[in-house]
Amino acid sequence: MASLSQLATLLLCTFFCCCQSDLIADVCSKATNPSLCTQVLKSDPRTSGADLRGLGQIIIEKSTTATNDTLAVAKSFSGGNNTGVVDVCSETCIHAIDVLHDCSQLLKDFDGSESSKSDLKNKGSAALTNVATCDDAFEESGGEPPQVKEASEKAKDLIDVFLVVANSL
Ligand SMILES: *[C@@H]1O[C@H](CO)[C@@H](O)[C@H](O)[C@H]1NC(C)=O
Ligand SMILES: *[C@@H]1O[C@H](CO)[C@@H](O)[C@H](O)[C@H]1NC(C)=O
Repeated sequence: MASLSQLATLLLCTFFCCCQSDLIADVCSKATNPSLCTQVLKSDPRTSGADLRGLGQIIIEKSTTATNDTLAVAKSFSGGNNTGVVDVCSETCIHAIDVLHDCSQLLKDFDGSESSKSDLKNKGSAALTNVATCDDAFEESGGEPPQVKEASEKAKDLIDVFLVVANSL
């Protein structure tokens, strides 16, 4: 026969497992790319037990990596008449990474006020705009290589998840 403490443990676990996945499902249902959101958040063990702010920090980290990957892919197209475009793209991706770093700090200092919420949203949007500027630069100069597009879509979709978190705080 199960003891009372075993039963309590079981109930607690059911509660946390249920509520944790509900938080991820809730955030990802509002994201531009729900399946990427779910896959990225569920594949990181740190998300289990994380609250909204915890998820925010994790998604900032994933967005930073994806933006850095976009930068690396864009750089692989350097040379010839792409040099100017790659320079623009590098600059905007590096700026997006800096802004994401600011987002992480703002989230640590978050105090629940409207101004701290709007700071987070503004910075998140700025990161998104910077990555999108890289796409625009390639498009204006005769087309974006599919590899760059794929990398930047991922970065933008992940930054969008951060915006969902910022809006839910
Ligand atoms: C970006 O990637 C490079 C290697 O490609 C790495 O050295 C660097 O630390 C990365 N930066 C960030 C912010 O992840
Ligand atoms: C870029 O280089 C290619 C191949 O050298 C050339 O055909 C094309 O016209 C160039 N594009 C621009 C915008 O200069």
